[in-house]
Amino acid sequence: MPAKMKLTHIDLLRLFESPEYAEVARGFKEQKCAKKTVVCTPYDDGDRIFIVKSGRLRIFLSYDDREFTLALLEPGDIFSTHTRAFAETLDESIILSGSTRMFQQKVVESPEIALVMVKVLGELLKNSITIIEGLAFKDARMRLVDFLVTAAEERGMPHPQGVSVELGLNTEEIANLVGATRQTISSLLNELIKSGVVDKLNRRTLLIRDLPRLKDWNSLS
Ligand code: HEM
Repeated sequence: MPAKMKLTHIDLLRLFESPEYAEVARGFKEQKCAKKTVVCTPYDDGDRIFIVKSGRLRIFLSYDDREFTLALLEPGDIFSTHTRAFAETLDESIILSGSTRMFQQKVVESPEIALVMVKVLGELLKNSITIIEGLAFKDARMRLVDFLVTAAEERGMPHPQGVSVELGLNTEEIANLVGATRQTISSLLNELIKSGVVDKLNRRTLLIRDLPRLKDWNSLS
């Protein structure tokens, strides 16, 4: 399951830096947020678009005491406040925030912004389909393996004993992304560690010792 929705090569941050988009960029206000700041909830008044300038945000649904993470946003990614989701910062972050109405006008005026928007929404849709596919057809074990394999392929770094993956997430945060309890994820991770497929380098970084075996883990165990 992809843990993030990354823009392709053109992103809004770079677009905003060019002189012809300076006026669009002025429509956005910079906001510095500490770690764990709730940026928006489904109950907020007002309708804003926000773009991540630095740091990381988590987009999630919350019912009673349960949470489900829909997406992790990184610099260049965009979201809006007019959804049923909550957004909170995972690290200290800077966001650019502007009114949806103003942004809509800019989208109409600029095919380039419209194109970036289609790409972003396409990524969000892809992420949503992956989540639905996982929840409908796969169990927690398969979803965890998908998540780890995707993370290793997207952000893995070569390591003498395999591939190191800085997830930047603790067990509970992985559980919220995969749609399982912390206990389930913790025992599945222990199983993977015991069988020598992965190892913990530190609280938030995993070492994938054997990626092909991890990919096959569902059929092997
Ligand atoms: C050009 C500016 C935008 C306009 C005019 C706009 C307008 C709308 C409207 C009218 C809805 C339906 C709301 C409802 O059902 O009551 C909607 C839903 C939604 N929009 Fe936007 N939107 C814009 C930009 C964005 C952006 C940039 C994102 C995120 C990347 C986004 C994400 C969503 C999502 C996820 C929903 C579904 C909300 C839900 O059902 O929970 N929108 N939008």
